[in-house]
Amino acid sequence: MTTLPAFDLLVLGEINPDLLVYGDVEPDFRQVEKLVDRAVLTVGSSSVIFACAAARLGLRVAFVGLVGQDVFGDFMLAEMQRRGVDTRWVQRRKGEATGLSVIFQRPDGSRAILTAAGLIPALRVEDVPGEALEAARHVHVGSYYLQTALQPGLPALFRRVRSLGRTTSLDPNYDPAERWASIWRVLPYTDVFLPNEMEACAIAGVEDVEEAARRLAREARWVVVKRGEQGALAVGREGERAAVPAVAMDRVVDPVGAGDNFDAGFLYGFLHGWPLEKSLRLAVACGALSLRGEGGTGAQPTLEEALAYVAG
Ligand SMILES: Nc1ncnc2c1ncn2[C@@H]1O[C@H](COP(=O)(O)OP(=O)(O)OP(=O)(O)O)[C@@H](O)[C@H]1O
Ligand SMILES: [Mg+2]
Repeated sequence: MTTLPAFDLLVLGEINPDLLVYGDVEPDFRQVEKLVDRAVLTVGSSSVIFACAAARLGLRVAFVGLVGQDVFGDFMLAEMQRRGVDTRWVQRRKGEATGLSVIFQRPDGSRAILTAAGLIPALRVEDVPGEALEAARHVHVGSYYLQTALQPGLPALFRRVRSLGRTTSLDPNYDPAERWASIWRVLPYTDVFLPNEMEACAIAGVEDVEEAARRLAREARWVVVKRGEQGALAVGREGERAAVPAVAMDRVVDPVGAGDNFDAGFLYGFLHGWPLEKSLRLAVACGALSLRGEGGTGAQPTLEEALAYVAG
């Protein structure tokens, strides 16, 4: 049976809110109460920020993940739905807690993050319905190192997705254990690998970013490296290469989620068959424009807004 995929993108990942706490204070554990400027609950988790960014650009996005039957789960499901992400394959687990990050932000830009993991690392390959895989043209995993239960089955899952004629992408994000190595097993089944510069060098085991990208592209089809204010670099397995500068921003409100918004921009181009450099230009525009708002989803650009920064 062959049916046309109903979704452009299926995201497998973690679902949690971020509680942003703003103020020029330091917590004092001698039971001292201090007043902060304000607190706001926002859409957190790399995978959901990415999914919302892709939906905002106009891609048809569905999500596979886990939340508890709690108020953070209610909040995230409502936000995902409001932002156009299909949640039919999100499971609500009774008696388990949705994860939460509390992010303390001081006016000088310094921040501290405390995370209650809850269900964040709990998703397994067995939780991914076969019908979900068949319903999408492309599968993305956005927090490889946080998804410890997903890791063992991921190479076989990506291989299966590709055998269905679909494509895959993977953003490692930071490895809290700083071991890095296991991801190599997934790269041969990855069409688009999206590390930042530090992650690319740590995984490849070299200091030079170009060399790191070339090494990773011996396995993944495309390697796209995010370089913060220096823009981005992409290398293909056949020796293709493109690099673009960042879009200069005169006001940065919040850097959270720039990488996830970048990923959505790049994959929009990839899924539309755009040339490499054009996809990279949309990606850096999406990354930069997301810095205008609070949290990762406070200022996600529409396609029209982002295209204004893409020449040609
Ligand atoms: N200060 C900045 N000015 C302009 N563009 C930026 C800036 N910071 C990030 N970007 C854009 O966003 C992209 C992704 O940011 P970055 O390189 O910080 O990724 P990351 O480390 O994966 O981010 P994240 O913390 O969201 O995982 C960059 O490649 C760049 O295009
Ligand atoms: Mg990142």
